[in-house]
Amino acid sequence: MATTMEELLEGLNLDLAAEFQAVITYRVFASLATGPYRSEVRDFFESEIPDELSHAQFLADKIVALGGTPTTEPLPVELTRDNREMFEIALKAETEAIARYEERVAQAEELNLTGLKVRLEDLIVDETGHKEEIERRLHNWKE
Ligand SMILES: [Fe+2]
Ligand SMILES: [Fe+2]
Repeated sequence: MATTMEELLEGLNLDLAAEFQAVITYRVFASLATGPYRSEVRDFFESEIPDELSHAQFLADKIVALGGTPTTEPLPVELTRDNREMFEIALKAETEAIARYEERVAQAEELNLTGLKVRLEDLIVDETGHKEEIERRLHNWKE
């Protein structure tokens, strides 16, 4: 069945809830990091926040432009005080974000929303960069 505008808006709101979740998660992880690499871990998570916030801004603006209402509820945040687990949680979230945006690209394409499709592809570029950064940190982790 063809994608409807309602389905696209529902999907974009799920994406927005996940971006809000990412902002909260990375802010709290940065503050909770401990151990000899505390400042490295803190700097890493803090450096991701502006990207995720800009994604949230884009999505909220786009949802309104398409006639919808942006969500105010983040997806549930998973907390840990273990540095390695922080990166594992973040890796899972970034991987899921890429999959969601790929689905959203296909929906935008079906609805002939080329501008949205191209911007969503930019988000995939950003999330792929985040994912690869995290993977390189988890590789050879010694602690
Ligand atoms: Fe994001
Ligand atoms: Fe990300």
